[in-house]
Amino acid sequence: MGPTCFWLKIVAIALFGLLNIYLFVISCGVNYQYAMAQEQVRFREEMPTMESWVNSPFGKLKSYLFNVTNGPEFLSGRDARIKLQQIGPIVYKIVGYNDILNRTASSVTYRKHRYRHIEFVPEESVSPDILNKTIVQFNSFLLGAAAKYCQIPFTSMGFNALTLGEQVFMTGSVYYFLWEFTRPALELFGKMLPLATNCGTLYNALKEKEEIYTVNIGTEVGMENFFRIQNLNGELRIQERVKDNPRNLGDSCPINVADTLDNSLYPLFLERNSSLSILATESCRVLPLRYQRDQEHDGMNSYRFTLLQANETAPKCMDSTYGVKLPRGMFDVSKCVINDAPSAFSMPHFYGSSYDWRQHFEGLSPNADEHEPFILLEPNTGIPINEKYRFQSNTPLPDFSSYSRKLTKLSNMIVPGFWYEFDMDHLPAHVLYIMRFNVHWLPHLQPYLMALQLLCALWCVLSLARRCSRSRSYGELYRKLCGPPVVQLEAILNPRPQHEPKLTTELALK
Ligand SMILES: *[C@@H]1O[C@H](CO)[C@@H](O)[C@H](O)[C@H]1NC(C)=O
Ligand SMILES: *[C@@H]1O[C@H](CO)[C@@H](O)[C@H](O)[C@H]1NC(C)=O
Ligand SMILES: *[C@@H]1O[C@H](CO)[C@@H](O)[C@H](O)[C@H]1NC(C)=O
Ligand SMILES: *[C@@H]1O[C@H](CO)[C@@H](O)[C@H](O)[C@H]1NC(C)=O
Ligand SMILES: *[C@@H]1O[C@H](CO)[C@@H](O)[C@H](O)[C@H]1NC(C)=O
Repeated sequence: MGPTCFWLKIVAIALFGLLNIYLFVISCGVNYQYAMAQEQVRFREEMPTMESWVNSPFGKLKSYLFNVTNGPEFLSGRDARIKLQQIGPIVYKIVGYNDILNRTASSVTYRKHRYRHIEFVPEESVSPDILNKTIVQFNSFLLGAAAKYCQIPFTSMGFNALTLGEQVFMTGSVYYFLWEFTRPALELFGKMLPLATNCGTLYNALKEKEEIYTVNIGTEVGMENFFRIQNLNGELRIQERVKDNPRNLGDSCPINVADTLDNSLYPLFLERNSSLSILATESCRVLPLRYQRDQEHDGMNSYRFTLLQANETAPKCMDSTYGVKLPRGMFDVSKCVINDAPSAFSMPHFYGSSYDWRQHFEGLSPNADEHEPFILLEPNTGIPINEKYRFQSNTPLPDFSSYSRKLTKLSNMIVPGFWYEFDMDHLPAHVLYIMRFNVHWLPHLQPYLMALQLLCALWCVLSLARRCSRSRSYGELYRKLCGPPVVQLEAILNPRPQHEPKLTTELALK
């Protein structure tokens, strides 16, 4: 063995030893899981989970319509209630995109394109040719306009005349109602007034809105504030509602965006009572999340939070729609939809609402399993692992007695338009793997890794000692270090100069 080679080995072992001692000392003062969490809140572009966030939200949008199966019978008075038949799911695959515009150590600004990619999924829909099927729908244009102008005195006669040709129920393809629903009267108005003329439900629901978020990142704000919103489009309040009535918007109105979340990432180390609310842009409001229970999903424990609670009273600024006081479990969204059409959101099938729909309709079956919206959050990483984001859009109607007979029959109904469920896809395998490692393995791994570091350091010290003392084996090193007594014992028991360790021990034992 050349001297260069010898010294190289010494240096290599010394460095390895020092590294392990360093790691061990560091590990004594650091929690691995916490260190990883700090990396997560720095939100670096190189993080393996970044791509999944950039291309989010991703999942399936399932829409459901209600086919009216006894329109003529209801209008003629033969049937007292309207029979509804649910049509769906009509499934679209959705992939969004978050475009990072600016980043500092403590904030990131990005533009969210929620619906960048939309594709019909025939095989997961109720039938592959569902878009071409014929259904019967309420004439939402007629009902909306009637409800909206009902408050203005003396409009009814003019209105009745203008809408003479409009039927209460309309027949058309599912595609027509979802994507290109329009009416000749509406197009006529649209030429004179700034009105949107396409009332297709999905056409409007999936239209891009400007959404530029600035959110907290970095270790300074604290993990409990990670990804909380600083502002939306540079504003601290939801503008649609501010424009509606700037005086009426006290702090009780849930439209302050500061410290809410965009439902893509959440603070870390969540507790069941953590204060979380999301910005629901489609309904122009802030929705508080309420912890419901623990739930297992994809092999991970998660906290289940609900978006609306059964029989919840709407905030004061959202509790009526064009003069119609809403029942519990609903809130007004008129200022948030095209043409300020009268509309209110509820859970699908009026689940958790005090509206007595049985008075007016048949065929609904509200239940928590299918109709309660919820989000599952993995508490350590704050990553949503599943969500079912569900809402139903309704048209609340006032007393129509001043209108023509066909409308009078619909007085005081809350007409269900359609409902949708955004169903988040499974997370990509590598993201799940990192989460599982972080949550399940890292906390248990730390003691073992630290023990390993200690062992490696010990081995390096011993190895260095042996090499530097030019001992051929650890036995020899031992004898050199703790030499004299053993050597003496050996000398007495075994006069031969050639020593064999095994023999020595045997003799020593005798
Ligand atoms: C909707 O109801 C109408 C009237 O009852 C019926 O003719 C039609 O087949 C139904 N559509 C679907 C898709 O079931
Ligand atoms: C990014 O944000 C910082 C802090 O808010 C600001 O000073 C800077 O001008 C922004 N950069 C761009 C390119 O907008
Ligand atoms: C639906 O109808 C359109 C024309 O109206 C046709 O081009 C299309 O092939 C039909 N789709 C199915 C699945 O039947
Ligand atoms: C949540 O509960 C814990 C104790 O269980 C308490 O220390 C903490 O202050 C609570 N947090 C909030 C936001 O209420
Ligand atoms: C909500 O209220 C209605 C009537 O007001 C009641 O029938 C229903 O049981 C309530 N639901 C829940 C979950 O409390």
